[in-house]
Amino acid sequence: MIVSHLRLRNWRNFQQVDVPLRERMFLAGPNASGKSNLLDVFRFLRDIAKPGGGLQTAVEERGGLSKIRCLAAKRFPQVEVEIHLAEAEEEEPTWRYAIGLKQEVRGHHKPYLAHERVWHKEKEIVSRPEKKDRDDELRLTQTYLEQINSNSKFRPVSKYFNEVLYLHLVPQLLRHPDYFTGPGIPGDPFGRNFLERMAKTPQKTRRARLRKIEAALQIAVPQLKGLTDAVDERGVPHLEATYEHWRSRGAKQREDQFSDGTLRMIGLFWSLLESDSLLLLEEPELSLNTEIVRRLPGLMYKVQQKHKRQILISTHSEDLLQDTGITAEEVLFLEPESEGTRVVLAADAPGIVDLVKGGLSVGEAIMPRTSPKDARQLSLIP
Ligand SMILES: Nc1ncnc2c1ncn2[C@@H]1O[C@H](COP(=O)(O)OP(=O)(O)OP(=O)(O)O)[C@@H](O)[C@H]1O
Ligand SMILES: [Mg+2]
Repeated sequence: MIVSHLRLRNWRNFQQVDVPLRERMFLAGPNASGKSNLLDVFRFLRDIAKPGGGLQTAVEERGGLSKIRCLAAKRFPQVEVEIHLAEAEEEEPTWRYAIGLKQEVRGHHKPYLAHERVWHKEKEIVSRPEKKDRDDELRLTQTYLEQINSNSKFRPVSKYFNEVLYLHLVPQLLRHPDYFTGPGIPGDPFGRNFLERMAKTPQKTRRARLRKIEAALQIAVPQLKGLTDAVDERGVPHLEATYEHWRSRGAKQREDQFSDGTLRMIGLFWSLLESDSLLLLEEPELSLNTEIVRRLPGLMYKVQQKHKRQILISTHSEDLLQDTGITAEEVLFLEPESEGTRVVLAADAPGIVDLVKGGLSVGEAIMPRTSPKDARQLSLIP
């Protein structure tokens, strides 16, 4: 399944968003235009749906509804999220899930549901508040999405959100997880426990994935010849690579010696193969050579050939968007305005479409529009 449509009202720096989504979607826009905020919508739904999660925790972890609600919104508006899930691109949705959130005016300012609605195909199967909710308003502090007893009619939706994965791998964390003690961040977005996660995968699957990653890495890192998993004498999982020039001596290197870019690619490719739920990627171009960034969409395609996972990718990279296989339907352009950011599908922006028709890549057409107007003045700062 893929998220085929997204509607938002008053979510962070967006007053209103209404966009179709493809299997692969790039989010381009200046710094602080809201790319991460947009990805956070899906993490929010995951945080509601996951075991031990729920609406109250998901809102609390974000600092309360007042932090989520758009500052540019009118007085006491509600925050609304609506998502369509379809079997494939451009198909009618199988599921639609919508929530509206408000906050108690007095007391603890607890968030509660203004509505929660679920449709299976054309049929509305949940419409809250219902009578039970009116009789006992405390019920509105929990979604049905988070409750096993109440989501049985739309369990696939809950399962889908629960599996959403957000990845912003920080190589130093993966290399030296011991230096960064503490409870860890839910969902491990920065990859501290990446190797553990990998080790928990059944051996056959793990090896098969590593072989695919190895094939992609051999293109991106030509000296790298082999990639395998290993376990040290203390039982700690590792990754091991053989490199061409060290081969005669049979030397292997472990992940603490891999380059930042190699680690980020391994994390990225592994995540692509891990499940068929939505993957949220932050700036995959980081630490990578320009030529590799250009080839990244192709490499991702190669790794993912069989089981495609929908990917939403935030980026600042014109190189990443150079691939001529990327269409204007696959790029959202975030344009900050005085009353919040506007999200435009590149295919709906005549200026961009004309440039693409004229032979520019989507990246070349869009990226110049994402530079801040006064960027050149930065050089004047003493
Ligand atoms: N409730 C809110 N109302 C309005 N603006 C908000 C709200 N919450 C966050 N923001 C604004 O959103 C901006 C940050 O957005 P975000 O981190 O998503 O940007 P980004 O496009 O990912 O940037 P970068 O490219 O630097 O990572 C900040 O300027 C912040 O002030
Ligand atoms: Mg960001």
